[in-house]
Amino acid sequence: MRFSTDIANLVQRRVTGQSLEAPFYTSKEVLDLDLEVIFGQHWIFVGVEPQIPESGDCFTVDIGKASVLLLRGDDMQIRAFHNVCRHRGAKLVTDPSATIGNIVCRYHGWTYNEDGELILAEHMGSGFKKNCHGLKAVHIRSISGLIFICLAETPPADIEQVATTVEPYLAPHDLVNCKVAHITDIIEEGNWKLTMENNRECYHCESNHPQLTVPLTEFGFGFSPDELDERRAEDVKAYEKSLREAHEAWEGCGLPSSEQEHLRNVTGFRAMRLPLKWEGESHTVDTKAACKKLLGNLTDPKLGGLSLWTQPNSWHHFMGDHIVCFSVLPVSADRTLLRTIWLVNKDAIEGEDYQLDNLTHVWTLTNQQDAELVRLTQLGCDQPGYETGPYSEFTEPHVEAFCDWYVSRLRNHLTSDKIEMAAE
Ligand code: FES
Ligand SMILES: [Fe+2]
Repeated sequence: MRFSTDIANLVQRRVTGQSLEAPFYTSKEVLDLDLEVIFGQHWIFVGVEPQIPESGDCFTVDIGKASVLLLRGDDMQIRAFHNVCRHRGAKLVTDPSATIGNIVCRYHGWTYNEDGELILAEHMGSGFKKNCHGLKAVHIRSISGLIFICLAETPPADIEQVATTVEPYLAPHDLVNCKVAHITDIIEEGNWKLTMENNRECYHCESNHPQLTVPLTEFGFGFSPDELDERRAEDVKAYEKSLREAHEAWEGCGLPSSEQEHLRNVTGFRAMRLPLKWEGESHTVDTKAACKKLLGNLTDPKLGGLSLWTQPNSWHHFMGDHIVCFSVLPVSADRTLLRTIWLVNKDAIEGEDYQLDNLTHVWTLTNQQDAELVRLTQLGCDQPGYETGPYSEFTEPHVEAFCDWYVSRLRNHLTSDKIEMAAE
């Protein structure tokens, strides 16, 4: 797809440290470009392995117009395919999740095995080559059970750096041996980038998230050093000391915790473990573990919260007792699907080891609060009075990192488009 001059100009004149111009949030043309360049060329987080624990389990995910089928085979490997029949193009699996044997098209019965090979196609004659009509594979990479897919022919190779760096952080939480306790899908009334930007800062948390902030320390959100009086400057010193001590203690017992910041890589990511206040154990209202059975071989619930953020579309919080994963997918220029997945130890029993309401309470409310903030921002961006505004360098550096990454990816595409045009 060629950039229109307008979009090319928007990309070129983006001012570092400022929110994006309105068309980035409102234009259908920009959304189409986002789907092609961002969601069509990068590693997209779509779900977790425990969503399909048994062979034959599958789920589908829509990225723009592409429906992708993720299927666990008899060999327990998960494969991803374009969810479209190679005969006349019928959509194959129509449910969001299912358990199937082979993949059978209901239209004329063409049948594919777990490798996507066409194994049955009646009445096609002796000259028909079944082996030329297998399902089209989609690249897939699981990182400690977090499933990323890439629709590009050649996906970004630096997913391996993500895996090498974050797997030691995630491994103790043993996500592959969890079960999905709950999934919610909400449609936020805003552009997907507003959902992501909102996630990339906690400037708004103190005044909007009364439940989430109970165990979070205010200095973890970033702060302006020149606005601190003497007493608060002492508090900051104490916080920084306690953070160093917590990281040393966790790393001493095999839990990597210090910040890893690579948000401007092609497959951008950041990971860090932060302590929780009040002897906190988990993201719950009383800050206590929501599930009695801890994850993996963990024996101490006081592990703080390990967070992983990936560009362009996910974030994750790993506690000692449960994990919450978030996936963001555009629906239209002003609508976004936010999928939230709560995971607990696979042996945990609902009602005995955990109460679902308690497990999901904080993030259910936090999601609603964030959805409202996204809605308000979308409404504002669509007004004639909207003008780009400044990000706080202290509390919004990761919002800038997201926007800078996003615009750089578009600019990169624009440059390669120009080179191609010159060569034609
Ligand atoms: S379209 Fe699938 S078998 Fe014909
Ligand atoms: Fe929020």
